Amino acid sequence: MEVATFERLLAPEGQQVLHEADAVYGSVDDLTLGTRLRRAGHPADLVAAATSQVALRRRAATKLGPEASALYVTPDALEQATRRTVASHRAERLRASGARSLVDLGCGIGADLVAFARAGLAVHGVERDPLRAAMARANLAALALDGTVTVGDVTAVDVAPYDVAFVDPARRDGRGRTFDPEAFSPPWSFVVGLLADRGVAKVLPGIAHDLVPEGVEAEWVSDRGDLVEACLWGRAYAGPARRATVLDAHGTATLTDTDAPADVAVRPPGGWLYEPDDAVIRAGLVTAVAALTGGWLVDPHIAYVSSEEHVATPYARALRVIEELPYREKQLRAALRDRGVGTLTVKKRGVSVVPEVLVKRLRLTGPTAATVILTRVQGEGRAYLVEPVA
Ligand SMILES: C[S@@+](CC[C@H](N)C(=O)[O-])C[C@H]1O[C@@H](n2cnc3c(N)ncnc32)[C@H](O)[C@@H]1O
Repeated sequence: MEVATFERLLAPEGQQVLHEADAVYGSVDDLTLGTRLRRAGHPADLVAAATSQVALRRRAATKLGPEASALYVTPDALEQATRRTVASHRAERLRASGARSLVDLGCGIGADLVAFARAGLAVHGVERDPLRAAMARANLAALALDGTVTVGDVTAVDVAPYDVAFVDPARRDGRGRTFDPEAFSPPWSFVVGLLADRGVAKVLPGIAHDLVPEGVEAEWVSDRGDLVEACLWGRAYAGPARRATVLDAHGTATLTDTDAPADVAVRPPGGWLYEPDDAVIRAGLVTAVAALTGGWLVDPHIAYVSSEEHVATPYARALRVIEELPYREKQLRAALRDRGVGTLTVKKRGVSVVPEVLVKRLRLTGPTAATVILTRVQGEGRAYLVEPVA
């Protein structure tokens, strides 16, 4: 979409077309919808812009929440936008830290920007893509939030007047996604400069620990079970070096390296096994789950924790250990057949088994569904029949 078309979409006629498109969207196919709106006398470019916006808003609802029905997005910018839950978590943390003003360096369509503004920060967004900048501005206005957005290159922005300089670098270059931090835009060296002081950066959750500068906190965040990002907190806002935050329907739970003992017992599983959340694993805080559940590791290098009693925790999924089964395939098949298992879920860690291939090879046909964990316990392959907690 051209910026000029977007500006016309924001004007009264554009809003009318958007409203009409929204009212009938889904009840007729896209072609009929477009034809109807054009026959009603609306210009073709506005009709195309409005119908694509209405479709995108519906797609955006999973990520941006119910407010998506009022927001403006492009397909690419939506893909790059932060989930509402995660953006709100970050914004609330900044508000609680006492920060009052923030510059969002590369704000895209403003998913983070609106969360910062909603948390009460005075916000300014900078974005090099004029359409995204116009959308970010319109998104603040659509939610009746204060804030300004300008078009420009973030590397030329003076961040000194702001309490926080937030950056969520684009991870695409001309050839698609890039995993080379120096090819991010703005590049890693720029991000590191910000982190020396009042910078806060959203990065890929796969970031190598040794890329995190000294004195900076890395927070891995999962939302409803998906590991979605790491947030780097510059020296002015950093707490302990590593943190795992788990967002779910019950709220926010957070663990740091101060909760993770260096020495945890290692022994075979007891009555319960736990699969730590991916944020906990990426943050290297599996031993914190052992401490919280009064448990131990089943192997020093594998992210399974075990305990005798069940302790519910937001940081891990608990599985009741029913019994140990033979690890070797032939004996495992016989044991599962004896138990009438036909539908098998295989979970594995630390062993070179491909679950789908194994399930196929086992050729089970019984009436019962079951879950098996294959793992290494003190260096040896073991199999456990388990039952996930609902
Ligand atoms: C990952 S997106 C930001 C998404 C945003 N946090 C959100 O949740 O909607 C990164 C944005 O930075 C912009 N950008 C990249 N390099 C830039 C630069 N040097 N100056 C200004 N904007 C830049 C890109 O155009 C892109 O819109």
